[in-house]
Amino acid sequence: MDILIVENSQQLATLAARRFQRQLSDKPDSVFGLATGRSPLALYELLAEKVRTKEMSFSDSCSFNLDEFYGLEPDDQRSYRSYMQRELFDHVDFPAGKTFLPECALGEDPACAAKNYEDRIRKAGGIDLQLLGLGQNGHIGFNEPSSSLGSRTRIKTLTPQTLAANQGISSQAGALPELAMTMGIATIMDAKEILLLACGSNKARAVRELVEGCICARWPASILQMHARVSVIVDEAAAGLLEMREYYVQVQRQKRVLSESLGREFTSLEAES
Ligand code: GLP
Repeated sequence: MDILIVENSQQLATLAARRFQRQLSDKPDSVFGLATGRSPLALYELLAEKVRTKEMSFSDSCSFNLDEFYGLEPDDQRSYRSYMQRELFDHVDFPAGKTFLPECALGEDPACAAKNYEDRIRKAGGIDLQLLGLGQNGHIGFNEPSSSLGSRTRIKTLTPQTLAANQGISSQAGALPELAMTMGIATIMDAKEILLLACGSNKARAVRELVEGCICARWPASILQMHARVSVIVDEAAAGLLEMREYYVQVQRQKRVLSESLGREFTSLEAES
């Protein structure tokens, strides 16, 4: 696991945007896994800026979002589809029809919708770079505590804490559905590389469990310890409870030394994941 501790959310966004840029220059037809929430907002703004200035382009790529509320119409301002349009898709150049969310309308069979989503990801060749946020309770996507660590895309019941955290992300008032569709933990783990962003002291406990805790369904993000290519970018506040903080800083220092001596960026992929 590559653990990067940065001063603030802007630095976090800058690092993440650089990773997206490298991904697109290595593989213009990359398949991205995208996230919602507050954590990716500054990143999405930077990506929009880089597309506007032609530093990067999503024109050959496609995307799959982690999750979506069950039964919300795509144009409902509370839906994650609306969030993604507003915060990213309307400002970048994904081809039309190439941005997917695990949508499931009221009355539609969630099991069928879930299976179709998994099939679609597989047909696209699998996710190259998966972006993740982190719930205060350790969830990734909407995989709440007690989620099977081997789960695939499915419908989940959201905890009151998760509903409260999501209320207010969209400008439209109104209760959120207590059910949501989410990629499963195994679906997320299939991604070739994972980039997790977390900011603020309210994430500190979840970050500690993710990085230094035991792997367990109580803290679903802890499964990321089993993935060979994970970068965790956190601000100082979110890193506040890490016991080995100094060591993670030392590792990054050594990476910079290696990068300088090699004359190229020594990435997490090649390092001690
Ligand atoms: C929601 C999303 C998650 C996201 C989490 C963190 O619950 N379903 O995918 O990781 O929020 O959100 P934030 O970045 O706002 O803390």
